[in-house]
Amino acid sequence: MKRFYILSIILLVILSLGFVTTDTEEATNAPKEWAIALHGGAGNYPVDASEERTKQYEEALAEALSIGSKILEEGGSALDAVEQTINYLENNELFNAGRGAVFTSEGKNELDAAIMDGSQMNAGAITGVTTVKNPISLARKVMEESTHVFFAAEGAEEFADQTTVERVDPEYFKVERRYEAWKRRNAGEGMLLEGSEDNSWKFGTVGCVALDKDGNLVAGTSTGGMTNKKFGRVGDVPIIGSGTYADDLVAVSATGWGEKIMLNVSAHTLASYMRFKEATLDESMDYLVNDVLNPKEAGFIAVDKDGNISMETNTGSMFRASADSDGNEVVAIYADE
Ligand code: GLY
Repeated sequence: MKRFYILSIILLVILSLGFVTTDTEEATNAPKEWAIALHGGAGNYPVDASEERTKQYEEALAEALSIGSKILEEGGSALDAVEQTINYLENNELFNAGRGAVFTSEGKNELDAAIMDGSQMNAGAITGVTTVKNPISLARKVMEESTHVFFAAEGAEEFADQTTVERVDPEYFKVERRYEAWKRRNAGEGMLLEGSEDNSWKFGTVGCVALDKDGNLVAGTSTGGMTNKKFGRVGDVPIIGSGTYADDLVAVSATGWGEKIMLNVSAHTLASYMRFKEATLDESMDYLVNDVLNPKEAGFIAVDKDGNISMETNTGSMFRASADSDGNEVVAIYADE
């Protein structure tokens, strides 16, 4: 009889442990209330970068993340979280967007941005603006206050005149470090070989994707584009479906070599793979980054309707950060972190 009691107790303990494990697994896989991911550009951040510089980037990424996370945690919209997170990155001259944007071949700063609200299947985009302090905010106004989706150059400036977005003198965007990089790039252009390891002039950009407590998915991206870009060059960022895309399943933002991202309609390719193959977010990201694009071309961040997050690059690094309602937080730079 005593042996029967002992066996029963052991059995009960084993069963209850089983339940605990199952509950924990369910909790881990359960949809998140909210989730957010951001990037500050893919590229080849040097492995021997100074600790001070790396700390500057990590602190900026953490600060940007806290802005968006707070909005979502307090029940704010994914649109506000994406816009305000990107505003911070645009205002921070460490990143290639807003102040600190790279220079065109003519020595100017011409900015592109796009935002897409997946729940409304609506978007706003602008390209080639030179006086709008926060291009992502103008893109949002295109989406919410115009009957169109995409305004270019003088037309985008004219639309901005009809809104309350903050305007600045074009000199505001010029940062010495970028200007020196542009001069170096110009001086060495003829010497760069196809397949050269030095791809740094092609990269940069900031972006953010978010899921809010109401289940809305939003993607936004903002950039100065590519160093030395020629007159009127438009990159992937403002082209809906290339650098920026959101629907009711997933939100995606790209960074990297715009021409390659565009040619593969990259953000929409991820979303379509997920929808039509009924694939997970990680499987879809893996397909895009490793099968569709070639090595050293691009990185992406994405969040799905259950709050799963994926951030991958096939370059050496991507400044990135993410957080969700389960308390998971990531700040990372190198691809293999
Ligand atoms: N990915 C940014 C650009 O190429 O413009």
